[in-house]
Amino acid sequence: MRIDILTLFPDTVSAVLHESIIGRAAKKGIVEINCVQIRDFTENKQKQVDDYPYGGGFGCVMMAQPLKSCLESVTQNTQNPRRRVIYLSPQGQPYTQETAKRLSRDCDHLVLVCGHYEGVDERFIEQCVDEEISLGDFVLTGGEIAAMAVADSVCRLIPGVLADEQCYIGESHWDGLLEYPQYTRPESWEGRAVPEILLNGNHANIERWRRKKQLERTRDKRPDLFAAFEPATDEDRQLLRELEKEKNRKKLTGPVTYRPAASEDIPRILEIVQDARESLARHHVDQWQGNYPDAARFEEDIRLGECFVLEHAGETIAFFVLSTAPQENYDAITDGKWSADLPYCVLHRAAVAKEYRGSGASQALIRCVEEQARAYGLKCIRVDTHRKNKAMQTLLRDSGFRYRGNVLVDSEPGHDPRRQAFEKILKERK
Ligand SMILES: C[S@@+](CC[C@H](N)C(=O)[O-])C[C@H]1O[C@@H](n2cnc3c(N)ncnc32)[C@H](O)[C@@H]1O
Repeated sequence: MRIDILTLFPDTVSAVLHESIIGRAAKKGIVEINCVQIRDFTENKQKQVDDYPYGGGFGCVMMAQPLKSCLESVTQNTQNPRRRVIYLSPQGQPYTQETAKRLSRDCDHLVLVCGHYEGVDERFIEQCVDEEISLGDFVLTGGEIAAMAVADSVCRLIPGVLADEQCYIGESHWDGLLEYPQYTRPESWEGRAVPEILLNGNHANIERWRRKKQLERTRDKRPDLFAAFEPATDEDRQLLRELEKEKNRKKLTGPVTYRPAASEDIPRILEIVQDARESLARHHVDQWQGNYPDAARFEEDIRLGECFVLEHAGETIAFFVLSTAPQENYDAITDGKWSADLPYCVLHRAAVAKEYRGSGASQALIRCVEEQARAYGLKCIRVDTHRKNKAMQTLLRDSGFRYRGNVLVDSEPGHDPRRQAFEKILKERK
């Protein structure tokens, strides 16, 4: 790809475009970018490129002759069907990624003409320009910033400029959606953690989560793009259905903290338990379907210092009970075994308020559980859940817990005692 930029400020434009990724591509000869001084093509002694507008009015207009001569210097008056002469103008078609794709695919030579002052003589546009492109519905002082934006966005689509095609496929605007959120180290920054799903190496789950985030943030940030988006796959349609269901749920807008629960928290904890009980019933899970866990149980958990509540924006959004007492019934595990003979803690009771389901509060809960296990000085967390409690099993798996076998519980007499047992060994912190 060759790009000639006709401008009154070639040094400035060249300095920017010969930096970083595009600069390296130019050095390797994958793209060629020339910035040409329009003033060098004037035919008057003063090297004047502009003059007063006919009919009066403010400012000056760039003359057609220097522009045309400058253009001819880069085209050599040759025909090239893969060349486009583009005038950057606030009156042009708004620039999009689709335009960038088209230009990188259909052209091997772009001539980008930068106007200045009040613009350029209309006759030059009529005679020499193939298309007009606007950076947006606002007015710049000159076309240089727009030309740099076009050159940069086209060049990065040329094979070999970026390390891999995957670098731009899936980016914002590639298929009409915005990109998913990105994170880098450290895992926790100012109380905000990287979503656990990105840490556990399950690439299928990560891809699904990312696609869902693309759909979600396009819906929330750019309703105009979302309205035009047509899902083409069953997975997209399924993800959109899930998002629709989750729409009325509350969002985590700030950090989630946790603290030991006090007796005053019990009414809210019981409210969360009741919601969970109803949800489990709807999913035909015979767990928490009697009186368990009741206020007396939580009083005891609180007395032992093992019950904690999660808070977000001044609201209690979840609770958990993490006990250090060994579980005798865990010794009788069947169909598998625990991975290590380490001292462990047991996650006994935990639930998220119904308005926060699907908001990331469950993942925050697991992070708080892990934080508390570390605070106990323990690296091993064990937990059991009903064999039909798929939501909990998915959360545990996505959070790095492993299924270890089956256990029986006696906490809910008269109800199904069979539970799946999971375990997570916490990694050393980097
Ligand atoms: C001050 S503007 C001229 C605006 C012109 N008088 C008008 O109202 O349409 C000077 C130059 O900046 C460039 N320019 C300004 N806004 C632009 C935009 N939104 N996109 C692309 N180029 C723009 C054009 O090259 C234009 O010739």
